[in-house]
Amino acid sequence: MQAGSEDIAFERVGPVARILRTVLVNPFANYAPAGMIRWLLRATRSEVAAANWADPGGWRSMVISYEGRCRQWADKVLVGWGAVPMALRNRRRLAARVLAGLIDACSHSPPEVLCVGAGPGMIIFDALSQARSPARATLVDLSYDAHDYARQRARQHGLDDRVRFVTGDVRQIAKHLDGRVDIVKMIGICEYLPDEQIVSMAQTLATVMPPGGTVVFNSLSGRHGTDRFFRRVFGLHMIHRPVEALSELMRQAGFGEFQSRGEPLGVYHVVTARKPS
Ligand SMILES: C[S@@+](CC[C@H](N)C(=O)[O-])C[C@H]1O[C@@H](n2cnc3c(N)ncnc32)[C@H](O)[C@@H]1O
Repeated sequence: MQAGSEDIAFERVGPVARILRTVLVNPFANYAPAGMIRWLLRATRSEVAAANWADPGGWRSMVISYEGRCRQWADKVLVGWGAVPMALRNRRRLAARVLAGLIDACSHSPPEVLCVGAGPGMIIFDALSQARSPARATLVDLSYDAHDYARQRARQHGLDDRVRFVTGDVRQIAKHLDGRVDIVKMIGICEYLPDEQIVSMAQTLATVMPPGGTVVFNSLSGRHGTDRFFRRVFGLHMIHRPVEALSELMRQAGFGEFQSRGEPLGVYHVVTARKPS
């Protein structure tokens, strides 16, 4: 991990919990009959399961994972101790720190951040609040509900005059670009898009970014050990790509100077890449 993230309060898993997960929890989650697990989650009124069934990997389940304060016991287990929700909370902290650093290092004032698949906006609001420079952000998402929720949170952070919302499909990002973009945040989106859509989106973004402009994205590793559970029980099909594979896609779109930082569970890396000067 590079300088600048050592003091982040990451969630970690101790050796005993790691062994229990490997020999007991993950095999049960991955191989017990999916119908039985779904029944259990319904019977215990799991909110994270309901959110995923309604919209697999959508913004509501992200909020539940980020907040980590669940009422139902099944959610306390899934969200409190599950490797993916823990890693998501770590990714949120790490990505916000990286973005705040980029905002403060930006030579343009005010820095303009474009958030692709912004969802509830929690990462960018953390970053805007942490940064000293008064950056502005545009949040692009398919979902009106996500924007309604994000608008409320922006108000709570006192950021409503520095953010704007664009409802649309990031696969047609060109339609939604109407100004300068210094930093692009692509956290929590690449795992839902095939290679060619990532390359084409990054190529389009590169055309509106100044030399030295930065994209921030994340890799996803199978080290959480529960992909089979997510596919069978939640219908969530995430595309796992290591840092190198994603960096190669960004390289095809003209970006370089890659730097990556991992969160301690090894599930996510947050990667930055620059448009050459
Ligand atoms: C897993 S959530 C991540 C939210 C946020 N980026 C984060 O990391 O906290 C994915 C978000 O991307 C949005 N999304 C997925 N596909 C999209 C697309 N093609 N165009 C715009 N938004 C999209 C979803 O609506 C959802 O809010």
